[in-house]
Amino acid sequence: MSDSGFELTAFLTTHRQQVNDCLERILTSFDPEKELVQAVRHSLMAGGKRLRPVLAMAAARACGKDDRLALPAACALEMIHTYSLIHDDLPAMDDDDLRRGKPTCHKQFSESTAILAGDALLTHAFYILCHPEGVFDLVPDPGIRLELGALIASAAGINGMVEGQMLDMQSESRSVDMGSNDGNGNKKDQLAHLIHMHGLKTGQMIVASVTAGAVSVRASQHLKTDLADYATHLGLAFQVMDDILNVEGDPEKMGKSAGSDLQRDKLTFPALLGLDPSRTYAGQLIDQALEAIARFDGRAEPLRAIARYVITRDR
Ligand code: IPE
Ligand code: IPE
Ligand code: MG
Ligand code: MG
Repeated sequence: MSDSGFELTAFLTTHRQQVNDCLERILTSFDPEKELVQAVRHSLMAGGKRLRPVLAMAAARACGKDDRLALPAACALEMIHTYSLIHDDLPAMDDDDLRRGKPTCHKQFSESTAILAGDALLTHAFYILCHPEGVFDLVPDPGIRLELGALIASAAGINGMVEGQMLDMQSESRSVDMGSNDGNGNKKDQLAHLIHMHGLKTGQMIVASVTAGAVSVRASQHLKTDLADYATHLGLAFQVMDDILNVEGDPEKMGKSAGSDLQRDKLTFPALLGLDPSRTYAGQLIDQALEAIARFDGRAEPLRAIARYVITRDR
């Protein structure tokens, strides 16, 4: 329990359950005998942390509104996130065998099925925003859902997560030219490049999650601005921790393999700064995230607790 008496574990349990119930309702509209549906289910219901949907709900609550209004966007974001993980694990990308404690989608099924399962999740995320009927108890108005669709597509797309993944791939074996004379970039340039890459690859979807929660409940512009500031720092801290866990995390707890970044000579925070400075940096980012929402009242306690959790997590 935190100083404020807020119990994050209970909050996470109930909110993850609400998200999982909606995702289950979405899946049951499809024929369970189809391999494509089985592959989608394998990855989507494998027990992810559900950070993005929970953040969307926590942001709606911080704005003083019913957090169930954020569920359509929350589910769309989790479906897109899951697609990104399926594709991220493919042999052409990170070539990983374990995800969410299970064989990766391409290991369990086939490469082609995994590509198509990712495609299906991405596409259906937007269908759900257009036609949320029958899945959710409460839904935002069509105008708000249109705004959510544009927000999420922008965060996931060409100037967002996909571009971040592109830069990540290009940073393998440090092949990217980061603007220096030696072609490898000096440390300052590399750090700036890394922050930019992580901001796109991971940050954009996290900012979109928090902002989507606020948009779903028609929050005012000043609340949205503060929340986006919180999420920008949180997203970067989250990816710094992901890099740290890739070095020293326990694959059993994480449900995915460790050591792969080093193996592929990826540009990461621990590779550039070292482990301890990376941890210090993540802590500073979380302080900044908390500062951004300092003027919110007790209803922002879930957001504060999630921020503290992000740098203490072991999975
Ligand atoms: C993993 O995301 C990929 C990153 C963007 C760092 P999560 O750590 O949120 O993965 P799940 O959803 O819990 O599996
Ligand atoms: C995955 O990043 C980010 C996205 C899928 C957008 P990483 O490749 O660093 O994350 P893990 O370690 O495989 O989860
Ligand atoms: Mg990757
Ligand atoms: Mg990966």
